[in-house]
Amino acid sequence: MPIADTVLERIRRVTRLPKVALHEPTFGGNELAYVTECIQTGWVSSVGEFVNRFEHDLADFTGAAHAVVVSNGTSGLQIILSLAGVKPDDEVLVPALSFVATANAVRHCGAWPHFVDSDYRTLGLNVDALAAHLRDVAEVRPEGCFNRRSGRRIAAVVPMHTFGHPVDMPALMELAARYRLEVVEDAAESLGSWIGNRHTGTFGRCAMLSFNGNKIVTTGGGGAIVTNDAALAKRAKHLTTTAKQPHPWAFFHDETAYNFRLPNLNAAMGCAQLERIDSFLEAKRELTRLYTEAFADVPDVELFLARPGTTVNYWLQTLILSATAADQRDAILATTNAAGQMTRPVWELLYTLPMYRACERMHTPVADDLARRIINLPSSPQLIPGVV
Ligand SMILES: Cc1ncc(COP(=O)(O)O)c(C=O)c1O
Repeated sequence: MPIADTVLERIRRVTRLPKVALHEPTFGGNELAYVTECIQTGWVSSVGEFVNRFEHDLADFTGAAHAVVVSNGTSGLQIILSLAGVKPDDEVLVPALSFVATANAVRHCGAWPHFVDSDYRTLGLNVDALAAHLRDVAEVRPEGCFNRRSGRRIAAVVPMHTFGHPVDMPALMELAARYRLEVVEDAAESLGSWIGNRHTGTFGRCAMLSFNGNKIVTTGGGGAIVTNDAALAKRAKHLTTTAKQPHPWAFFHDETAYNFRLPNLNAAMGCAQLERIDSFLEAKRELTRLYTEAFADVPDVELFLARPGTTVNYWLQTLILSATAADQRDAILATTNAAGQMTRPVWELLYTLPMYRACERMHTPVADDLARRIINLPSSPQLIPGVV
């Protein structure tokens, strides 16, 4: 049987549905009650009890000292990059294999992405390869780390925890300290992923979470900043809420800031979703077990599993094709999608996009290779009905 047909048959064994999306939200908890409460009380907009509660609950869940909710992950990342000291014309190290928002947020600060290779063990930023690259191109001066090739300051590094699989953060923190780089985590995909007992997003100076409709917890659209730095959290709240000084009626704004607030209506959904995250995570672990079993005897494909020492949210289930089967990727995507079982390739490498083609980058053989071999499988938690 052609590999595309085998993959389709094994996906169907797991999903047992004629038509299935890649990742759909589920609202079987208090979502409707909390949203209704907002409508009935009139507290639908930029402040309200659910905003405060969602921030509290997120800090509690991640173990971060502070959480500030924002309009989406991209705006949150822009703000924390800037609060971490990224200035126009700086460079920021970002993975070549990521969603476009990671690089866009850097540009929104007026800085430039500098692309880094991936790691086969994590699908995220390759710390060893980055160390070798920095040895080649970087110079640490009293004013910070500089790229000898471009002459620009390298201000920060943004690890992104791909599909919920954590980057090797202890190793990256050590490297970043040596080169005096700020670490700002793109944890958009990794709510519910830990290294040991430490949640992703709590290693660097600060991190961003996303609650876009396809994420493990959704508010329709939304995001959060998490950090242990009280001053940074306070600045983030101020900057994302138009820099208005608190006052019962006066409109005094003390700097040019942003309206990146998360409405109470969306925060209400977030509170209800977060109440159910343990069952979402359990369903996703069970889905991983079923896919592992279904693909166990299929040559040339392997389900990507958690590294020892990590707990992974399995946001998107990920199949890695062997090097020899890579040329079958598009046939697999075509067959499965035509049959109603939605699958996706990974993103186009960011340095190939028109606006990022001229950016600085290291050699990216692993990212180049992985980009041809990754297929995401249907991953909704409600595929495991008894749990969610
Ligand atoms: C890795 C990554 N970074 C950033 C984002 C941007 O988040 P948002 O859509 O909430 O702006 C997303 C998801 O959408 C993402 O997957």
